[in-house]
Amino acid sequence: MDASPSASRSVWTSRLGFILASAGSAVGLGAIWKFPYMAGTNGGSVFLLPYVFFTLTIGLALLIGEMAMGRSAKGGAATAYAKLAGRAWAPFGLISVATGYFVLAFYSVVGGWCVYYLAQAVVGNGAVTDPSAMRSAFETFSSAGTLPVLCHVVFLSATAGVVLCGVEKGIERVSKVLMPLLFILMCVLIVRGLTLPGAFDGVRFLFTPDPSAFTGEALLNAMGFAFFSLSVGSGSMMNYGSYLSSRVNIPTSTAWVVFLAILSSILGGLMIMPAVFAFGLSPDAGPGLTFATMPAVFGQLPMGDLFAVAFYLCLFVAALTSAISIFEMSSQYLVDEWNFTRRNAVLLVGTTLGILGILSALSFGPLKDVTLFGKTFFDLFDYATSNIGMPIGCLGIALAAGWAAWPKIEAELRTGAEAGFWRSAGFLTFLRVVMVVFSPIVILVVTAKAIGLF
Ligand code: ALA
Repeated sequence: MDASPSASRSVWTSRLGFILASAGSAVGLGAIWKFPYMAGTNGGSVFLLPYVFFTLTIGLALLIGEMAMGRSAKGGAATAYAKLAGRAWAPFGLISVATGYFVLAFYSVVGGWCVYYLAQAVVGNGAVTDPSAMRSAFETFSSAGTLPVLCHVVFLSATAGVVLCGVEKGIERVSKVLMPLLFILMCVLIVRGLTLPGAFDGVRFLFTPDPSAFTGEALLNAMGFAFFSLSVGSGSMMNYGSYLSSRVNIPTSTAWVVFLAILSSILGGLMIMPAVFAFGLSPDAGPGLTFATMPAVFGQLPMGDLFAVAFYLCLFVAALTSAISIFEMSSQYLVDEWNFTRRNAVLLVGTTLGILGILSALSFGPLKDVTLFGKTFFDLFDYATSNIGMPIGCLGIALAAGWAAWPKIEAELRTGAEAGFWRSAGFLTFLRVVMVVFSPIVILVVTAKAIGLF
């Protein structure tokens, strides 16, 4: 990969490779780990429906805008804002880069949990038959100081390793094989979960609207999760867009990514929630929900240990492909803006994230009583990135792509082999209205409501 943002950068070798890598960035722990527990703690359907709405409107428009900015500027967020909209916009780029970077400070810990559960499954401990033991098993592991830290370091090192191999050799190849496998495995596990007695209470919890559970905080969480699940507003998709060949039409490819992201969250919910209800667990058990639930599903399956290995492998891969996109973006920032070699950039990002991740990993054990703004390090990194950093990053994309740099973005959106609806005047007008009018209003109103301004 070239160090200069204006010189030739790496390019995805095919449209499918780009879609799968972008979907790999979007589809990750968000769908399988975060969606079920966020839905569980925010009223189920009251969380799902706004999430789908935000994703299909603001999420789609801003992801298209973010990709187009990256490709038009041939650079990541720190370069693109200044180049396309002027120097005054540069802070939005820096906030996006910082947001993505801090996502990894907790994401890598959950990635480490996947490593641990995968290792447990490989040695034959992936399935449990006594559901009452599940929660305590997760708590014992996550609160043990050294082991979660070690697993986080393993996960982060794997991420750094793929990033070091470069975009074409590493990320694209891994995504092409493992993304389809992930979807197939999820479908198998859903069928098993849905056939458990009592499972349909979980389906009802997810899909039956319950206006009485509705709160401003749930709305902000749903919006934050919509951004998190698409990886929009945190720099990584702008960076991926910058590797995209001009032969590919951005709206068409982005629509695929959005579709796959929503589908995977719904599949993630359908995989976890029916089992939660069938085993009499509490849907609002928090970040450990997926890890506490799935071992009991495997306990109900013939060859449960084999399924457990496959599932945690999937989860590991989903987490890895997302982490790769964020790590890649952070390293590329150092290469583009500070003339780092790729190797040194990966080293610096890896070391600093290693340290921040340790604080997150210990948030469930030795550091569980150390809080900032009332939150542990893990919760703080999670909340601040999804509910503050990404909304600001999205606001930046909405105004820069839809207004300040629109002529360049419009030209970018008309480029590519595919014709028809996605680059019709009608769709582009819709896109611009969502960017410039709808998105800023919704982001500001939802945030104001959540912090109690009205
Ligand atoms: N979009 C990524 C995920 O959902 C961060 O896991």
